[in-house]
Amino acid sequence: MLEAIRESSDFLAPMLEGRAHDVGMILGTGLGGVRDAMEARRVIPYAEIPRFPVSTVPGHAGRLVIGEFGGRPLVAMQGRFHFYEGYSMREVTFPVRVMRALGVRTLIVSNAAGGVNPTFHSGDLMVITDHINLFPEHPLRGANLEALGTRFPGMADAYSPRLVALAADAAARLGIPLRRGVYAGLQGPSFETPAEYRWIRVIGGDAVGMSTVPEVIVARHAGMECFGISVITNSAADADASHEAVQEAGRRAQSRVTALVREVVSRL
Ligand code: HPA
Repeated sequence: MLEAIRESSDFLAPMLEGRAHDVGMILGTGLGGVRDAMEARRVIPYAEIPRFPVSTVPGHAGRLVIGEFGGRPLVAMQGRFHFYEGYSMREVTFPVRVMRALGVRTLIVSNAAGGVNPTFHSGDLMVITDHINLFPEHPLRGANLEALGTRFPGMADAYSPRLVALAADAAARLGIPLRRGVYAGLQGPSFETPAEYRWIRVIGGDAVGMSTVPEVIVARHAGMECFGISVITNSAADADASHEAVQEAGRRAQSRVTALVREVVSRL
């Protein structure tokens, strides 16, 4: 694993051209606009990066984008690896390890999520204040590599309160309504049954999705500061979960998420 991380980061490091890139982003639902808004210096297909996971979905090839956004040098993942696609947890979280090796200290992620808080509606934005890990496998299972982080990492403040406050402030100034809440992460790929949505609400979730939790756990293990934002694309109460609805709500949220994250990044 250490060898693989080193091979990937040795390949990418020269592309940073000697400048510190301390912000990393996973451009999930809602953050696609960052790719258009950022000044990209280098765009590297994942397939060209040694030891990176290989995309199994044709036409779905991801890229690493190195450039600037909100006045900050940035490493961005355009396309993530989901557990439901069949990747191992090691593969899902490998890019986070590589980002850390490249010097990234702050990880910003976005996702699509179903709202289980009854006051949430499709199109809402939710800053993640905490998560509940419901994935069937833990990304840190197995021998711990002390060089990467401690055996038993704490998960209090997994989502930086400082960045949550920054986002709340930025949203108020931009006039963007912003919810806050707990993200429950499950493996998918089926959406939840009504009984499962009720269960997630009962155990303390505000939103539910199929990503983010593994990446944030690994980022925290590596000592990174994390910030996450969910686009509420459907609501449990409306029973309107579908891939099309998720994509449509994601598109509609894009300009708001991009503006908000630009503001957060520029004030880090
Ligand atoms: N459940 C799980 N993942 C999701 C949902 C949902 O309702 N909406 C978008 N991603």
